[in-house]
Amino acid sequence: MDSTAFTDALIRERRTKRAFFLDRPVPQDTVQQILSVARFAPSSSNTQPWRTYVVSGAARERITTAAVDAFRAGPDRLAHEYPFFPDPLHAPYAERFTAFRGQLGDAQGVHRSDKAGRMRDVERQFLFFDAPVGLIFTMCKRLEWASFICYGCFLQNVMLAARARGLDTCPQQIWSLQSAVLRPALGIPDDQMVVAGMSLGYADNSRPENNMQLRKLALDEFATFVDA
Ligand SMILES: Cc1cc2nc3c(=O)[nH]c(=O)nc-3n(C[C@H](O)[C@H](O)[C@H](O)COP(=O)(O)O)c2cc1C
Repeated sequence: MDSTAFTDALIRERRTKRAFFLDRPVPQDTVQQILSVARFAPSSSNTQPWRTYVVSGAARERITTAAVDAFRAGPDRLAHEYPFFPDPLHAPYAERFTAFRGQLGDAQGVHRSDKAGRMRDVERQFLFFDAPVGLIFTMCKRLEWASFICYGCFLQNVMLAARARGLDTCPQQIWSLQSAVLRPALGIPDDQMVVAGMSLGYADNSRPENNMQLRKLALDEFATFVDA
């Protein structure tokens, strides 16, 4: 395969996975390789706002248990460190959001009205969907919007480098709701915010939620070519 075909396939084949094999460990050396190449991401004036905590083994167990406990104790008390979406979300994003949530619920076999089932699914987020490695990403709170763009470039690099090694990922901004658990557990300094988490492992592709066909915008729905 030439490098264009390989790169295109890598980008297309990176899909968010939400079920992993807990008993298939990811060697720490592999995680080091992934982060070592991801650090070549572009960033505004080379400011490189990323900081990553790699959580596995007993630390993963401790953090997932504490995060699930915090969620059960009061889902409404989990505080946003930065806004996710405007409320209410408007067209066309609201329709896309609702279509995605419906597809995910159908794949997981959880109906919208099944509150307990939906709670269980959120708990799986805080278990890293059984992935053996969890990544927690933080950024200095004093940085601005531009640094979030840089962070997105870095996160995509992590996900593609993982895929190139036969691994899969779920990027999870939901982990930013768990800063009260993560901050003391990982020693995250007060001037850092939790931007996101990420599940990293070998995906269980027999699961319907790992085989969703999501509609992606066609080229003419988002690109305008101006040539005169
Ligand atoms: C910044 C960001 C945050 C996300 N946060 C979550 C999350 O908290 N939980 C989750 O299950 N998926 C999360 N996702 C995954 C998206 O739902 C997913 O990328 C989207 O539905 C498109 O699917 P695809 O990645 O398979 O193309 C996030 C994705 C991005 C880029």
